[in-house]
Amino acid sequence: MFEALPAKGVPGEQILAELRALREHDLPTHGGRLFAYVYDPALDGLDDLAHAAHAISASVNGLDPTAFPSLLAMENALVAAAAGLLGGGPETVGSVTGGGTESLILAVKAARDSRPDLPAPRIVVPSTAHAAFAKAAHYLRVALDVVPVGADLRADPAATAHAIGADTVLVVGSAPSYAHGVVDPIPQLSAVAAERGVRCHVDACFGGWILPYLRRLGAGLPAFDLAVPGVTSISVDLHKYAYAPKGVSVLLHRDEALRRPQYFAYADWPGYPMVNSVISSTRSGGPIAAAAATLRSIGDAGYLRLAEQTREAVVTLAGAVSAIEGVRLFAPPETSVVCLASDGVDLFVLADELAARGWHTQPQMAYGDLPATIHLTVTAAVQPTAGAFAADLADAVAAARQRGPVQLPAELLGAAAALTPQQVTPDLVAGLAAGLGLDGAGFDRMAAVNTLLDAAPPALREALLTGFLSMLQRPAPGTGPAGE
Ligand SMILES: Cc1ncc(COP(=O)(O)O)c(C=O)c1O
Repeated sequence: MFEALPAKGVPGEQILAELRALREHDLPTHGGRLFAYVYDPALDGLDDLAHAAHAISASVNGLDPTAFPSLLAMENALVAAAAGLLGGGPETVGSVTGGGTESLILAVKAARDSRPDLPAPRIVVPSTAHAAFAKAAHYLRVALDVVPVGADLRADPAATAHAIGADTVLVVGSAPSYAHGVVDPIPQLSAVAAERGVRCHVDACFGGWILPYLRRLGAGLPAFDLAVPGVTSISVDLHKYAYAPKGVSVLLHRDEALRRPQYFAYADWPGYPMVNSVISSTRSGGPIAAAAATLRSIGDAGYLRLAEQTREAVVTLAGAVSAIEGVRLFAPPETSVVCLASDGVDLFVLADELAARGWHTQPQMAYGDLPATIHLTVTAAVQPTAGAFAADLADAVAAARQRGPVQLPAELLGAAAALTPQQVTPDLVAGLAAGLGLDGAGFDRMAAVNTLLDAAPPALREALLTGFLSMLQRPAPGTGPAGE
């Protein structure tokens, strides 16, 4: 049991050994076997460099750029690099944020606060937009108008135009969408927004650092960035395909006036007058320095090479999915995502079978008319392992076929079907978790959990997951205040 505050301090070597032991239970962040959460370029020495850069600036506080101009210099350089890559012009400005969600919340805030005349602002998003927009809408009390995507899984410009009303402050497109990896028709989408004088944000958090290189490599992808006239802002996460350690994203605005309502200033209290470009006040310079070092080390030519390797991996994986009976490609593998659907095999059992073979994929629940799928985020590190994955996929599909779908006890399914989100109590969640084998000893076999969640409507899924997270997030007995 890990104890954060022992009665007496513990030697550093022991602490590091303890941390390493804890990490042994995590999924593998390196080696091209984890297809979500992590982005690995598999470049020798890059981690060491990023960690050293992080250490140099870890104590620097982003609260005040006049106190720490080193951070301002690095942030401006990161913004300039992102603007250069994403069609920015001389007027382009931006901010470095702590991640994609923060960038999106700030894009929504800027749009909302640009229209103080509207008592009930709204944003229009395609149904495939990242969940962070729902979070932004919730936090900022902005209404969310969700427009179904077309059969091609892309935002529908005509339906979007229809959804724009007098209270709309922002239209959103993805480049690409996380779930399926397809690029929305940004020129058409931003045109319908511009026609109505509405801002258009492109969520390129996921793909913004690889799409420009894929286009350079000849991929037939549409324009998606600030080079498109109606696009007013765009976000790109450096901790995704720029391969920087976690905690860095960039939000770009076409010009200064568009950015201004993103800021928050407050001087009406007895402490220091506060002005922030992002949500956090105090923030470490560590992730920013690590990102700056990563970009400088890889360089433009390096990113092109990494994009090429990623594409090779995508082509291998997509080819395998197409060739293996029992699964099929669900979305065109046009970027760095391979999204597969079932053609006769239970996907949740398949995900477990892959995990048993050391491949960690991301199941996605059914949504509306869309079936459950498996998502693979592909990074450069997958290139050398893609062939091995393909072989194991065939094997795992065969094993999943043999096992068949998870048969949940009828009483469990019945209970889940009858449950309302309001009935989800801590006791109920604890009982369900115990029944499904989620006793904290590991999360290896998740098919039963995923099957149950998949059967539940989204509001019930949310309540169950919230209850489950709350159950997990408790101090272990004996690790709290002395004497506990
Ligand atoms: C398209 C897209 N937008 C936003 C986000 C949110 O990013 P973060 O997890 O860094 O907050 C993600 C994360 O996967 C994403 O894929």
